[in-house]
Amino acid sequence: MIISASTDYRAAAKSKLPPFLFHYIDGGSYNEHTLDRNTDDLSSIALRQRVLNNMSELSLESELFGEKLALPIALAPVGLTGMYARRGEVQAAQAAANKGIPFTMSTVSVCPIEEVAPAIDRPMWFQLYVLKDRGFMKNVLERAKAAGVTTLVFTVDMPVPGARYRDMHSGMSGPNAAFRRIFQSMRHPSWALDVGLLGKPHDLGNISTYRGSPTKLEDYIGWLGENFDPSISWKDLEWIRDFWDGPMIIKGILDEEDAKDAVRFGADGIVVSNHGGRQLDGVLSTARALPNIADAVKGDLKILVDSGIRTGLDVVRMLALGADCTLLGRSFVYALAAQGGKGVENLLDLYEKEMRVAMTLTGAKTISDLSHESLVKMG
Ligand code: GLV
Repeated sequence: MIISASTDYRAAAKSKLPPFLFHYIDGGSYNEHTLDRNTDDLSSIALRQRVLNNMSELSLESELFGEKLALPIALAPVGLTGMYARRGEVQAAQAAANKGIPFTMSTVSVCPIEEVAPAIDRPMWFQLYVLKDRGFMKNVLERAKAAGVTTLVFTVDMPVPGARYRDMHSGMSGPNAAFRRIFQSMRHPSWALDVGLLGKPHDLGNISTYRGSPTKLEDYIGWLGENFDPSISWKDLEWIRDFWDGPMIIKGILDEEDAKDAVRFGADGIVVSNHGGRQLDGVLSTARALPNIADAVKGDLKILVDSGIRTGLDVVRMLALGADCTLLGRSFVYALAAQGGKGVENLLDLYEKEMRVAMTLTGAKTISDLSHESLVKMG
């Protein structure tokens, strides 16, 4: 049964990937209530059908931080993308560039900045956490600048990692993890050859480049755990604001008071996010949090949103709720795992088609025509 491109690619990714990798991307934290809320709340928002408005000319283009976007979508930063397809960050970045949208490289990517940036013909975005190792932060920002990165996405909702119980069950972490990962890889031979063998090295490329020695997958969870910094506050971001002269987006805002602080701080944008339901289980879905945040700060900075977006209709819903742009995480990784860069391009084509139908039938000729008026007011 075809339900949506993301659903079909998810099923394909599930059969192709060793379970530890599938569950790492697919899972959320604790009981995964917020993970489910993100998709459930979003899909329950009713679009308002309008007809007979001559919708022959539609434009899905927009401008963000001086960049032209063919669709109001960017690929979200996802750690270990290079484990989902051979040199996966390069393939995903090329697919995004071919479709005219930004790719955001994660700090904890497999391929380093220096491998991905020269492989694409548009500037990429770069994501960074606030980490204890400030020397690494400085080094990676300098390298990002040198590689022509324009936009910095600063993740602030990970002062501590959320408990991902699925990872402990799947072999990503927990007892005998390394042995279980090898065993699972042997049972997925096409992944094992294509990515496991031919996709090496499987370092955390950005960190290895800084350290001058390989940082292996086994070090990933440990490095994250050791390096998150629960003492962070807005003050810790000031030096980065001074150091980084390009646009800076704060990712992980779910409350309007924090959104107002981001404006006071001088951020150029925020990502309304609960980290795809991977951090604090039990918080609001982004579809529910977004309208209040948009009321508080729309126009003062750009509002991006992620968590739960699986179709072009969801993109339209998020824009109608007040977002300027959306980020896709799981959705693109499923497609990348299933079919590489070609899968990501096909997924983006499907998003575009779905958006065109939704805009035609809600009477929105441009992205900026989408507003609360495009939605049915529900009790
Ligand atoms: C890292 O940001 C993760 O969600 O695993």
